[in-house]
Amino acid sequence: MKLRLFVIAMCTAAVAMAQTRKEVNLEQWQFSHDGQTWEQVSVPHDWAIAGPFDKKWDLQVVRIEQNGEKEATEKSGRSGSLPWIGKGVYRTTFSVPADYGHAELLFDGAMAEPEVWVNGRKAGYWAYGYNAFRVDVTSFLNGGENQLEVRLSNVEESSRWYPGAGIYRPVTLVMTQPTRIDDWSLYVRTMGIKDGKAEVEAEGKIVGADKTMAARVTLTAPDGQRAGGGDAEIGGDGKFYVRMKVDNAQLWTPETPHLYKVKVSVVKNGKDIVDEKTVTTGIRTVRVSREKGFELNGQTRKIKGVCLHHDLGPLGAAVNKAALIRQIRRMKEMGCDAIRTAHNMPSTMQMEVCDSMGMMVMAESFDMWIYKKCKNGYARFFKEWAVRDITNLVLNHRNHPSIVMWSIGNEIPEQWSEEGRQISIQLQGLCHSLDPTRPVTQGMDRAEAALGSGFAQVMDVPGFNYRVHKYEKNLSQLPQGFLLGSETASTVSSRGEYQFPVVVEAADMPTSNLRKSHYNGQCSSYDVQHCSWSNLPDDDWQWQDDKAWVIGEFVWTGFDYLGEPSPYDEYWPSRSSYFGICDLAGLPKDRYYLYRSHWNKEEHTIHLLPHWTWPGRKGEVTPVYCYTDYPEAELFVNGKSQGRIRKNAAERLDRYRLRWNDVRYEPGEVRVVVYDEAGKQAGERSIRTAGKPSRLKLDAETIDNMVFVTVSMVDSKGTLCPDAADQLEFAVRGDGKFKAVCNGDATSLESFAEPRMRLFHGQLVVMVEKTGKGAVQLTVKGKNKSASVSLK
Ligand code: GAL
Repeated sequence: MKLRLFVIAMCTAAVAMAQTRKEVNLEQWQFSHDGQTWEQVSVPHDWAIAGPFDKKWDLQVVRIEQNGEKEATEKSGRSGSLPWIGKGVYRTTFSVPADYGHAELLFDGAMAEPEVWVNGRKAGYWAYGYNAFRVDVTSFLNGGENQLEVRLSNVEESSRWYPGAGIYRPVTLVMTQPTRIDDWSLYVRTMGIKDGKAEVEAEGKIVGADKTMAARVTLTAPDGQRAGGGDAEIGGDGKFYVRMKVDNAQLWTPETPHLYKVKVSVVKNGKDIVDEKTVTTGIRTVRVSREKGFELNGQTRKIKGVCLHHDLGPLGAAVNKAALIRQIRRMKEMGCDAIRTAHNMPSTMQMEVCDSMGMMVMAESFDMWIYKKCKNGYARFFKEWAVRDITNLVLNHRNHPSIVMWSIGNEIPEQWSEEGRQISIQLQGLCHSLDPTRPVTQGMDRAEAALGSGFAQVMDVPGFNYRVHKYEKNLSQLPQGFLLGSETASTVSSRGEYQFPVVVEAADMPTSNLRKSHYNGQCSSYDVQHCSWSNLPDDDWQWQDDKAWVIGEFVWTGFDYLGEPSPYDEYWPSRSSYFGICDLAGLPKDRYYLYRSHWNKEEHTIHLLPHWTWPGRKGEVTPVYCYTDYPEAELFVNGKSQGRIRKNAAERLDRYRLRWNDVRYEPGEVRVVVYDEAGKQAGERSIRTAGKPSRLKLDAETIDNMVFVTVSMVDSKGTLCPDAADQLEFAVRGDGKFKAVCNGDATSLESFAEPRMRLFHGQLVVMVEKTGKGAVQLTVKGKNKSASVSLK
């Protein structure tokens, strides 16, 4: 026994000696609103997401200028109607062993205005809740246990959407020697790629280095083999540079997300390691030009992107790897290759997921500069903080191969002004100085103003939000010779909701059909409703497909998000968006298949809508749409042909959809047979009228430590019952716990954090978190139905 203990002690000592740097995630915290009652929480944490929903949190009489409103009206739900406003305090303890001479805290984001206190003394502060920041706590440390407190404050009317609240992204304690690598100084970039060979440069800064030390760089290929490296002198300013030639470079693309590792070691006297840090990166180049548009590794490609807000629906702002993977997986399956982190800095976790799964990113920063978009927004901080915020954004994220563009703003009101033009030049220049490899953009909504002031002309990538009919005129005034649809569509729909008659309209207008006869908190899933400032997917594609100088688009949005319930911002209890291609639970709406049919070139799409269960509609006109990549199809209702039709590029809605507008409903089966370009039958799909609800069907998707279970009410033949709204309860047994639930209904006031919820149009998603390696069982119970699933 004694001998064994000795051996273990030896090993620990050996590890401790070699361990030059230690990074610890601070997960366990105490949380309080008032400093009186405390609760144990684990970070990432969002104190507001459990609710309860209440109109009071964002009841505002406002005029939303961005939406073209002339008068102030009473609005609710604008920021999610969840209790994010107010103060919060987090406390934890940490120790720094005596053999580390330096300690730093890295916050990936804390909402908002985080003050960092160590052992009763203020050690740091950051104004913007979305940014990462570092706090050197070395001089605040005790010998033993240290008290860490983070004080947060969220003021009312500071956001146009649900911002979340709390320490919603990870906090890392980084312990090193006083002589150390300055973490964000590490920068690895591809200098060029030719004939399969790449030139890669790594640079960085060593703090406290002396003449006995050198920087050693080791590049490791995706297969784990050494791919290059070398030693470099450390200059008087602490900086080093290592150039590497990489044979058979495996390039990063969304289709081939190859990742390289770059290890940087500070070596003393040629042998002793003083500090060591590894960054993950990819080899790839990005370029934009008049001649070739957007190029990745020298190949032009049109960006097929979506905008994403940072909240993860029922999980709130608390960043969660499994939920991020699920989002990116869904988007990739649709054929999407890029996301825009609207309108703020992304989390590191999200960028890592995008790197490894292959998703390009436009990393954004601000929704406003000096001119306010809401009473207490970032405009309070811009003058003092903008340069620091952009600096942290770029330094923190510039090694991620997924990021192909920086964005310095969204719909900045200063578009018309000389001051705005100057700020654009300044912030874009700052991005360039910290990272000369990526172009910089911003999303502009006032084309005439931005082109009149020269605001648009100074950008590497002029990005325009909506108003596609102005694209051509915009281009004529742009020296760049191309433009990006930085924000497109803003089509609105609710999963499973169909409104008759089918009318193409701006749903937010007082005269809209929606307003006059369907004002129920839902939008039609025929994908014909948009906002007055926006349009339908089909309108964007005409430009994307016909004009080489339109370099791509970012659709508003990939998923529904909390807050901004246009066109229902005056309708209570609407509290989340309708813009999503997927709903708030992550379930695809019909629109998902429209995008898939156009974007996914690997797999065919044949999707029919609406559902075919319409008691009371017998004999009524019930249009049927098919979303497919095939050019032609014939539709049958109970075997009777409704006609064989072909896509027609001359008609707005017939270029990308197949529509049978005069079908009269009768229960039974609707079936579509599709034909390829050669006129050959290529596939078919059918949907049936559902019978009585018979059972609950559970489909589980396991990702990382989470299981996402889609619950559907089906009839005896397995057909979805689209009107089912049963109240269900959830129980988890074994090595797991109930985490959240969501049904995608923008008007539901049931808490995401309670194990009960109604089905919305027959479906909802339950999220279960695994707590160990053992089996987990989820049981779903309704009034007289129940189902269980084992989650391995
Ligand atoms: C845009 C804006 C987005 C969102 C969207 C809704 O103008 O940039 O943040 O508000 O409209 O359509």
